[in-house]
Amino acid sequence: MRLGRAMVLMIGWGLAMPAAAEPSADRRIQLREMVAQDCGSCHGMTRKGGLGSPLLPELLSQVSAEGLIETILEGRPGTPMPPWKSMLSRDDAAWIAAYLMGDVK
Ligand code: HEC
Repeated sequence: MRLGRAMVLMIGWGLAMPAAAEPSADRRIQLREMVAQDCGSCHGMTRKGGLGSPLLPELLSQVSAEGLIETILEGRPGTPMPPWKSMLSRDDAAWIAAYLMGDVK
């Protein structure tokens, strides 16, 4: 039974984010904190925007998940949005993209 549940979760994750491995529970705690603190310093603690654009699900649904992942990893040259690839793996960035879109908690 437990294996069955894990499989369903893995398949669900696979559909939401192809080829991404979900970060560990500990890592997810760090990532949530990072989104609030580090990203929040520009995008706002509640992600309603500031120096950075608002990062609310209804706005982000216009952008592809892949586009969000690229922006998070590479930043936006010529804007204050910095690249995060030295601190975040692609799986981390994929999880943050899903988190910002409200697909994972
Ligand atoms: C130093 C300020 C700053 C920090 C820190 C920052 N951002 Fe940004 N971010 C920006 C700015 C400014 C833009 C808008 C860039 C533009 O004009 O295209 C942006 C754009 C984005 C976008 C694109 C939104 C869209 O509608 O396409 C995403 C996604 C994003 N940031 C995620 C993050 C995440 C996740 C973090 C934390 C890991 C983060 N940002 C940290 C300033 C910041």
